[in-house]
Amino acid sequence: MIVCLCHSVSDKKLRQLVLEEGISDMKGIRRCTALGSQCGKCVRHAKDILNETVASQYKQVS
Ligand code: FES
Repeated sequence: MIVCLCHSVSDKKLRQLVLEEGISDMKGIRRCTALGSQCGKCVRHAKDILNETVASQYKQVS
């Protein structure tokens, strides 16, 4: 599913950045994808996916 239409960033890409590149904040996501830098409508949904993915990773470790 595409989360950021302006920059064609999918939920899969966001999860990949967290799980494979170790990115854990919106600043890092923006740096890698430019997500949110145009209309900004995607930011809230992207944050939800980011938080959910980081939390699931934490659960796996503990
Ligand atoms: S949908 Fe992401 S900046 Fe517009």
